[in-house]
Amino acid sequence: MIIEKEYAEGRTKFLSADLEHYAGNRRQLKTDLPVFYNPRMRINRDLSVLFLSAYKKNSPLERICEPLAGCGVRTLRYLNECPGEFHAVISDVNPHAVEMIEKNVGRLGFQERVTVKKGDAKILLLTESRDKRFDFADIDPFGSPAPYLTAAIQSLAPRQALLGVTATDMPVLCGAQPKIAQRKYGGLSIRTPFSHELAIRLLIGRVFDIAAMNDLGITPLASLSTDHYVRIWLKTKTSCIDSNAETKKIGYVLYCRDCMATQFLPLGLLPSKEGFEHERADCGGRLYFAGPLWIGELYDLQTLETAQHILWQDPGLYDPRVPKLLDTMKEESSLTDYIYTDLHALCDLHGLQSRSIEQVMSSLKEAGYEVCRTHFRPTAIRTTAPIRELVDIIRQH
Ligand SMILES: C[S@@+](CC[C@H](N)C(=O)[O-])C[C@H]1O[C@@H](n2cnc3c(N)ncnc32)[C@H](O)[C@@H]1O
Ligand SMILES: [Zn+2]
Repeated sequence: MIIEKEYAEGRTKFLSADLEHYAGNRRQLKTDLPVFYNPRMRINRDLSVLFLSAYKKNSPLERICEPLAGCGVRTLRYLNECPGEFHAVISDVNPHAVEMIEKNVGRLGFQERVTVKKGDAKILLLTESRDKRFDFADIDPFGSPAPYLTAAIQSLAPRQALLGVTATDMPVLCGAQPKIAQRKYGGLSIRTPFSHELAIRLLIGRVFDIAAMNDLGITPLASLSTDHYVRIWLKTKTSCIDSNAETKKIGYVLYCRDCMATQFLPLGLLPSKEGFEHERADCGGRLYFAGPLWIGELYDLQTLETAQHILWQDPGLYDPRVPKLLDTMKEESSLTDYIYTDLHALCDLHGLQSRSIEQVMSSLKEAGYEVCRTHFRPTAIRTTAPIRELVDIIRQH
């Protein structure tokens, strides 16, 4: 018999395996819990509740699916905290998880709105969407979501749908295991000081590949990066025209380890050093390539603003870090054509004394450049200034 405990997130109370009993004080939860629930992923779920509510304001939402659900907390929160009477399919391969989900559904009185299933996520996504496709699929696995993406994308309503994807295989996505990244995400990852941005872009790149194969266009609505996972929310819609246009948003990241210059290079352009600011600046350092990956936008400002508006109605429901996260996402949403630069890494590399991020930002603004913070790293900025200018500005101070 599983030792259970009641937990609460947002407005929702639910049961899961007692973490204290099964995991003790382990900081990193293992996948061997009898039923999985990780309180450290709460921000992921908080934002997912807000983005689903924001999405629902202007889009149809009748059926949703979470095929790797653990104790079910995520979808229980959607049902309990997002407006509307949509139906949910919740499933897991672990029979103990399925029992727990059923119990939780009963306790909250959602029997009429939920179908609980046991089985492999890929199969359930396709069989449960046979008669009517899903308006939202949420893929939140252990490790890489790559094996589930084809079934998830093919289960989505063709006219329009929302897709949420979490990846926790950070060594793969951040450059420690480039061969696995190439296999799972179709692009090379390399070690860089902006590894989490590469992670998000490789993940969106893979979603683009599979969506495009199925004649769907994608619009990233939001991206989240934390120490141990990345998460994306995207809108999909059947449109060969959109999908053709989005091929321009697949490309490489060029990166110089000698000076930290970065630049996107669309796949359609022949690799040429001419257009690379770094070459004109005469650094002479060797260039490294990551990708192919997504070089387009990472956020949709309207989604972020709507989510913020919903948050303000009852901020106490969410993790206290969520308001600032949304603020910073909004701030950086217009500058994602520029990869973030970590100022500590830049100062170390160039032997500069580090300055406060505020000072650097105001000097860049005075010099006529656009600049913002990024939620990816508290010590990083996005700026239109070339790396040499940035280094000069820090050095002059
Ligand atoms: C990270 S946990 C899910 C956490 C949950 N989404 C949440 O927000 O709390 C991953 C879950 O996937 C389940 N799982 C692993 N492989 C699966 C498969 N092939 N099909 C369905 N479920 C699977 C595990 O039993 C586990 O409960
Ligand atoms: Zn260089």
